[in-house]
Amino acid sequence: MSANIEELERRRAAARLGGGEKRVAAQHAKGKLTARERLEILLDEGSFEELDMYVEHNATDFGMDQQRVPGDGVVTGSGTINGRLVYVFSQDFTVFGGSLSERHAQKICKVMDMAMKVGAPVIGLNDSGGARIQEGVASLAGYAEVFQRNVLASGVIPQVSLIMGPCAGGAVYSPAMTDFIFMVKDSSYMFVTGPEVVKTVTNEVVTQEELGGAVTHTTKTGVADLAFENDIEALLAAREFVSYLPENNRSGVPELPTGDPWDRIEDSLDTLIPASANQPYDMHELVRKVLDEGQFFEIQPNHGGNILCGFGRVEGRTVGVVANQPMVLAGVLDINASRKAARFVRFCDAFSIPIVTFVDVPGFLPGTAQELGGIIKHGSQAAVRLCRGDRAQDHRDHPQGLWRRLRRHGLQALARRPQLRLADRRNRRDGCQGRGRDHLPLRARRSRQDRREDQGIRRPLRQPVRRREHGLHRRGDLSALDPAAYCAGVAEAAQQAAREPVEEA
Ligand code: HXC
Repeated sequence: MSANIEELERRRAAARLGGGEKRVAAQHAKGKLTARERLEILLDEGSFEELDMYVEHNATDFGMDQQRVPGDGVVTGSGTINGRLVYVFSQDFTVFGGSLSERHAQKICKVMDMAMKVGAPVIGLNDSGGARIQEGVASLAGYAEVFQRNVLASGVIPQVSLIMGPCAGGAVYSPAMTDFIFMVKDSSYMFVTGPEVVKTVTNEVVTQEELGGAVTHTTKTGVADLAFENDIEALLAAREFVSYLPENNRSGVPELPTGDPWDRIEDSLDTLIPASANQPYDMHELVRKVLDEGQFFEIQPNHGGNILCGFGRVEGRTVGVVANQPMVLAGVLDINASRKAARFVRFCDAFSIPIVTFVDVPGFLPGTAQELGGIIKHGSQAAVRLCRGDRAQDHRDHPQGLWRRLRRHGLQALARRPQLRLADRRNRRDGCQGRGRDHLPLRARRSRQDRREDQGIRRPLRQPVRRREHGLHRRGDLSALDPAAYCAGVAEAAQQAAREPVEEA
């Protein structure tokens, strides 16, 4: 064997060993898998193609030149899940606590760039102590690069984060910018500053679990979407979850063959919704009966339970479901429910996933906690997202499918409601064309008119439509008035009306 190949083999073995047997054993003792073991479960067998296996950090201070591990604490590459391409990175806690160095960040950025280029989801398995302390600002700059890509990829490709260990500092900001976060109970934590820092600064005593555990984030804060018992459960759930997601914002939703007959009749739906509005019922049951094979992948089931959000399929194709839940707080809308729905609908809108809305809501939750907590802002966000979620590319036949399914099930009452959002393809000539394309990379955003302009053909001036003209004029007339004179005129008219005798009938 040549010396080069021997060296390559040595480095490969070192990369596979990560932080060494002792640290791997410590990882296993905590019930956690290593970075590579996790990828083996997440991806289809034998599909993983690793990138940058031999990359090492470039730090020399604090004796770092003596401690180099090939791979530098993160395993990156691509693979398939049920045959569909995904890009992945998996942080290795056994190497400097999975902390992010400059090179570590470059590896993550590379897979994110590739994912954006080919239009495939990115899945991050996070297990990191944050910025690598020994590298100082170089690692912080690394985070800047990762964050920027999180933002650029938002709405272009799905981004999913699995938090699989104690993640601190910058290691929580990046996942928070992604679309969905899964956590593992008792072994994963998310906090900007840990309990020690909290104690020092505010003198509060709090455990890791209370501050940023999976239960805290999936029930109280809503930072994470789902909590699982262990690594394997989380990884298998991620595999299932990805099957609902489009590859990118132009690919359309995936379609799976379904054994659910198109003419299935659910007689129970005729009686499920009680005649009395005061009597609650479980919206889960209704949703499951409408969706293919009763499969509903619910997001944030333990947070904002008064609204249900999740994915299912109708005639084999993914739909997003937003449904009021009369079983929790009588299905009212509050801050948590509004934020949850707004975020979910925004994702569906960006990726052209049709949304089915099941509406049964008494209104917003009254109270000082809600008003002072900003229900106006959060509630309006939910409304904005729902109103904007009105487009779907390449789904022209889907709305009919949804209508058929709902009508077939005897849900006439629901189907008649105007709120039922069956996304359709719209020819956007209302001057809002920037809206639907905000999520596309710059190149894709160039319209036909842009290309015509490249050829020297001038863009025609767009005339305001008559309806808008009237509106503008009315406003113009009002704004031309002096406010004081306007108010005086109104007051005088009121006084005169009061002086005039009331005519006898
Ligand atoms: C370098 C780190 C590290 C880090 C952990 N390690 N975090 N090395 N940089 N940020 C190393 C430890 O030195 C240790 O090395 C090994 O990883 C395991 O760590 P332990 O502490 O033994 O593990 P555990 O008890 O499970 O605690 C995990 C932890 C804790 C909660 C993550 O390590 C911790 O609090 N780390 C520091 C977190 C932090 O302050 N990060 C910087 C945030 S600043 P050995 O050799 O002993 O195995 C930041 C700014 C972002 O991120 C700003 C963005 C805008």
